[in-house]
Amino acid sequence: MLRRSLVWAVLLLGVAFALGDGGYNINILDPATSNNREVSKVLWWVMGFAAIIFLVVTGAMTYIVLKFKKRGDETGEPPQFHGNDRLEITWTLIPFVIVCVIFGLTARSMFVVSQVPADAMPVKVTAHLFWWDFEYPEGIRTSNELILPVNRPVNFQITSNEAGPAKPVIHSFRVASLAGTQDAIPGIVTTRWFKPEKEGVYYGQCAELCGASHANMRFRVIVVSQAEFDRFMQGAKSFQPPTPTDPAVAKGQQLFNAQCTACHAINNTQYQSKIGPDLSFFGNRLTLGAGIWNNTPERLEAWIRNSPGMKPGSLMPPFPQLSAEDARSIGAYLESLKVEGLDFSKLPKF
Ligand code: CUA
Repeated sequence: MLRRSLVWAVLLLGVAFALGDGGYNINILDPATSNNREVSKVLWWVMGFAAIIFLVVTGAMTYIVLKFKKRGDETGEPPQFHGNDRLEITWTLIPFVIVCVIFGLTARSMFVVSQVPADAMPVKVTAHLFWWDFEYPEGIRTSNELILPVNRPVNFQITSNEAGPAKPVIHSFRVASLAGTQDAIPGIVTTRWFKPEKEGVYYGQCAELCGASHANMRFRVIVVSQAEFDRFMQGAKSFQPPTPTDPAVAKGQQLFNAQCTACHAINNTQYQSKIGPDLSFFGNRLTLGAGIWNNTPERLEAWIRNSPGMKPGSLMPPFPQLSAEDARSIGAYLESLKVEGLDFSKLPKF
């Protein structure tokens, strides 16, 4: 009975892991940056010591239990003895040495990880309830999907939004395969850097309990070749929202400008509000709702009409006055906002 439930538990866990991350390999032990290699090295040392201690303790316990167990004809207490100075000194010294070694390795790693290369590209990260804003040099912004060139160090200046009606809270920036966790604290700028080494899409997640949609505060880091990154930056700088020829898309643009621009910005237009995510390059996005769904027309339509219904605590109000057709038009307009010639959907996932 017990064994069968165990097998089931393991199977279900396996299925949950396989389905849960949507094909992402969220794993600090498969590092894609020098910083993560540094951290996982320390982790292996700690695990190694833990394994040795486990074997020694369980081994000693098994030996003692077997050696001193009651034999059939024994009566009364066995001989008693107290204290063994040599043993006590040994088992005090060994953990002390282990702690010193772990301290040394950790201090060394912390030092290595904190050395920001001089040529690092600065990127500002601002955590909001419940989404992420990324600002590149020259004022280019993207929300919830951070596009980076491969093999170029990036230095993140991380903070949490203080403006607006919502109470500022602490969030935490975490991309398991690229970097450890760095808190985003209102009024304080914290930094973290890494150099992505492999092209691909990486899974990021807020790692500090911040409210109803903490679990839905995800993001992606899209690592592309330098050429592709340059193409994105050039396209982003010269970006102009297209003038729609399709009447449905034109209507979507009108509705968007009337309903959505109080909170959302579009690059190189008069609409520059920073209350909500920047939607300039929405058509390039893989996901919506801060990385919780694939960017599909159906999800987008549902999101536009009732985002708090899809994401508890979302600050975007529902728009019940919009018909499904209107929402689809807005969605079609948003999908037309993009830097042409970029497709991130074929990149491997990490
Ligand atoms: Cu933001 Cu958890």
